[in-house]
Amino acid sequence: TKTIKDVNLAGQRVLVRCDFNVPLKDGAVSDDSRIVAALPTIKHLVEQGAKVILCSHLGRPKGEKKPEFSLAPVAKDLSDKLGQSVHFLNDCIGEEVEAEVAKLKDGEIALLENVRFYEGETDNDSEFAAALAKCAEAYVNDAFGTAHRAHASTAGVTKHLSPCVCGFLIEKELAYLGDKTANPERPFTVILGGAKVSDKIKVIDALLEKADTIIIGGAMAYTFALAEGRKVGESLSEPDHIDTAKFALEKAKEKGVKFLLPADNLAVKDLDFGAGTVGESKYFEGNIDDGWEGVDIGPKSIELFKAEVAAAKTVLWNGPMGIFEIDACNKGTFAIAETIAESDGISIIGGGDSVKAINMSGYSDKVTFMSTGGGASLEFLEGKELPGVTALDQA
Ligand code: 3PG
Repeated sequence: TKTIKDVNLAGQRVLVRCDFNVPLKDGAVSDDSRIVAALPTIKHLVEQGAKVILCSHLGRPKGEKKPEFSLAPVAKDLSDKLGQSVHFLNDCIGEEVEAEVAKLKDGEIALLENVRFYEGETDNDSEFAAALAKCAEAYVNDAFGTAHRAHASTAGVTKHLSPCVCGFLIEKELAYLGDKTANPERPFTVILGGAKVSDKIKVIDALLEKADTIIIGGAMAYTFALAEGRKVGESLSEPDHIDTAKFALEKAKEKGVKFLLPADNLAVKDLDFGAGTVGESKYFEGNIDDGWEGVDIGPKSIELFKAEVAAAKTVLWNGPMGIFEIDACNKGTFAIAETIAESDGISIIGGGDSVKAINMSGYSDKVTFMSTGGGASLEFLEGKELPGVTALDQA
């Protein structure tokens, strides 16, 4: 994949696809990680003297121009961060947009309105892609978080613009989630959590080819416990996927990959997720009694997992160990976050909830790399091609 370093875009109108799909609160950006991650590419283009035309989606407005999905708050946040004005345009296609963009001087920046205000975006409609491309000459894709979508702004536009290259963020994401896990410094330990085995089985399968140790936490571990013939009480599990779990356990044995499940769990009664409260709580080793719901890993598991992480030269983490949004159930997830932050090895946080947990625990500046992708990171770790990257290669 060609990168922004392979081309000189001075003086050109460059359409830059970013993933500015960020959470908003009271009309302002409440988590700016994705904006911060996009800065190196934007600054590079500005310094090179390109005319920078940023575009992105925000949320899922489904082809309707809904003001709550406007990218205007992102333009403001970006202007503040860059110390330079970002001209916000009220649309992403059309004559007015073209006229405004034509006024840009070298090194100036515009941000187009949400591309998902048109259905043609998610449909990867060729007419919409052509209309979007009309304001620019060259194309840079730096939207790693959206690279698993074959949409007009991530794929279709590449038919109309040249050159088409990736930005620094996509380059870095591919390096950490790709090369550094394909040819890792060993021992390579993977920690996977989250609710469902069915969501993560392809990732587990792919990582069984690469890792020395795989640690399983989160509700997913209860399906593995069922596969081992243990009782899980009222814990969230997927009885339909016991065979899936058995298959992974079998494959781990064949490959000589150490596969660790929690040695103990915190279980509770009367969990109220909305209120963030639990009733009685108790630790169980092995079986969890009827009437109890597993919500976190226990202290023995924390010690066991900590030792593995401390011995690793590369650690990849994806998915929380428990319901970390509730204070009473967050100890396991935060203990893992802390251990990863303290490790001397390369630490890669594979997106989504684990990034949220690292941020909440305050250790985000101590890890080597945090992915900006949710679904995109998972699909890439599964070994799937990312349409947003493939389109660049084929352009
Ligand atoms: C994400 O947040 O995962 C990306 O921005 C993609 O968003 P989507 O799932 O709505 O396509």
